Amino acid sequence: MTKPLRKAVLPVAGLGTRFLPATKAMAKEMLPVVDKPLIHYAVEEARAAGIEQFCLVTGRGKTAIVEHFDIAFELEATLRGRGKQAELRMLREWQLPPGAMVTVRQQEPLGLGHAIWCARAFIGDDPFAILLPDDLILSETPCTMQLANAYYETGGCVVAVTEVPHEQTSRYGILDIASDDGRLVDVRGLVEKPKPEDAPSDLSIIGRYVMMPEIIPHLARLERGAGNEVQLTDAMAKLIGQVPFHGLRYEGRRFDCGDKIGFLEAQIAFALKRADMSDAVKAFLKTYCAELFG
Ligand code: UTP
Repeated sequence: MTKPLRKAVLPVAGLGTRFLPATKAMAKEMLPVVDKPLIHYAVEEARAAGIEQFCLVTGRGKTAIVEHFDIAFELEATLRGRGKQAELRMLREWQLPPGAMVTVRQQEPLGLGHAIWCARAFIGDDPFAILLPDDLILSETPCTMQLANAYYETGGCVVAVTEVPHEQTSRYGILDIASDDGRLVDVRGLVEKPKPEDAPSDLSIIGRYVMMPEIIPHLARLERGAGNEVQLTDAMAKLIGQVPFHGLRYEGRRFDCGDKIGFLEAQIAFALKRADMSDAVKAFLKTYCAELFG
C-alpha cells in the first residue's frame, strides 16, 4: 500500500551565484515574484498537495527564510494598532501550525544530493516531496498535487518532467525512457547534464519530485558527480529497478527563477494573473511593445 505523502524537503542552502549581487547578503529564495518570496510559493504549493511537515535545508545567510515563517509579533501588534485588518488576516491565513516546519543545516553547499541527505532524520521511512523554490510553476492544479496524484496511482518515485531544446540537455537531468503514454513516462535511466549527442531523450527533470526514503543509502555514499557536486540525479538513477520510477509531464508553465530572464518572465506572467494588476501590466506592456516593434 502506498504510504500517504505528508512530508516535503525544501533545499535552500545554495549560493545563488547567478543572482549576485542581490544574493550576497540575501537568500535567493526570498526574492519576490510580485509580492511573495519564492519560498512562500513553494510552501503554499506543497500545502495544497496535503503536505503537513516541512524541512528547510538552510545554510549561512538564510535566516530571513526561517523568520518569514515565524509569527511577526511586533508587526502584527502594529498592524492591529493601525486597524489594518486585511493585512493581519493575510498574514494569519498562511501561518503554518506550530511545529510544522523544521530546519536542518547544510554546512557546505556540496550539491543538491548532499542537501537532501542532510534531511535524512526528518525523512525517516516516509515518502517525501522535494520542491526547489527557484522553479516556479504557474498551473491550474498545483504541480506537487499533480505529482502526488500520480504517486497514488503508481507508487514509487514520480518526477516532474518537461521537454527541453535538444541543444540544452547539458543543463539538465535527462530521462532515459522505457515507455511513454504521453502523460506518464516509465523511466529506465537518468543522466545528469549529458551533452546533446549523448542525451537519451529531450525530457528533463524540473524541481519537483516525489521521492522514496530508499534514496538515502544511495545519497549517503556522497559520491561526487557533475560539477564535483553530490548529485540527486545520480542517486535517483540507482533507485530505478528498486522502486517504481515515473516521470510526469505536468500541466503548467515553469519559470526558472534562479535565472534572471526566467525571473523577469515570472514577474510578468504572475502579475498578469492578478486581478488587481493585470490591466496596468497590459497597459505598460502595450507601450513597450509599440516602442520596440512599432
Ligand atoms: P541551484 O544550482 O539552482 O542553486 O540549486 P544555487 O547553487 O543556489 O544557484 P547558482 O547556480 O549558484 O545561481 C537548486 C536548489 O538546490 C539548492 C538551492 O538552494 C536551490 O534551491 N541547493 C543547491 C542546496 O540547498 N544545496 C546545494 O549544495 C546546492
